[in-house]
Amino acid sequence: MILLLLLSLLAEPYSEERARAVLESLRKDARRYMSVDPEDGQFFYRLTLELRAKRVLEIGTSAGYSGGWFAMALRKTGGRLITLEIDPERHAAALRNFEAMGLADVVDARLANALVEVARLEGPFDIVFIDAWKPDYLRYYELVLPKVRRGGAILAHNTRNAAFTLKPFLERIRNDPAVRTEFLPGSPQGLSISWKK
Ligand SMILES: C[S@@+](CC[C@H](N)C(=O)[O-])C[C@H]1O[C@@H](n2cnc3c(N)ncnc32)[C@H](O)[C@@H]1O
Repeated sequence: MILLLLLSLLAEPYSEERARAVLESLRKDARRYMSVDPEDGQFFYRLTLELRAKRVLEIGTSAGYSGGWFAMALRKTGGRLITLEIDPERHAAALRNFEAMGLADVVDARLANALVEVARLEGPFDIVFIDAWKPDYLRYYELVLPKVRRGGAILAHNTRNAAFTLKPFLERIRNDPAVRTEFLPGSPQGLSISWKK
């Protein structure tokens, strides 16, 4: 007990500058970990703040780069991120990175198969970000749609560079009357935003 108290007194207070420096350092492994580009990360940060989001779900953590952007904003809104990763090595890297960013307490990072785990999660979510295997996007969309609040957003990555594989998903989000879909113009690999009506 006394040791824990001492450790908490010694622990550095959270600083966004430090979290941003850690995010920057993760860029060198962006290819290996298939991370989103900084333009997408900055958008996640702004959107989370604009929606005053408290509950964000990410499908596909990898090493925690995109999750770090959400978590940095959630630290300000008082919210939390649930993020799901099936690969133990990437999940472990994400845990280390969230810790280094000083954001571990904002993130519930689960080693789980999202196709199973998402069905177990209770909504409502303000934002859901889909960034796992591309052929599964449509399944994730159908699973999360009822769990997103009205005015919330479902985001999906690689809508440009994986457009062929994502065709059934893209057709669905363009034609589903339950959402209004747009695409982030500055996203290098393509990012869809489906606003739930
Ligand atoms: C493109 S990467 C995610 C990158 C991350 N969003 C970022 O920008 O930092 C996709 C990740 O989804 C994970 N994944 C694929 N299928 C999954 C599943 N069924 N459940 C959980 N994670 C899955 C992969 O292991 C991989 O790490």
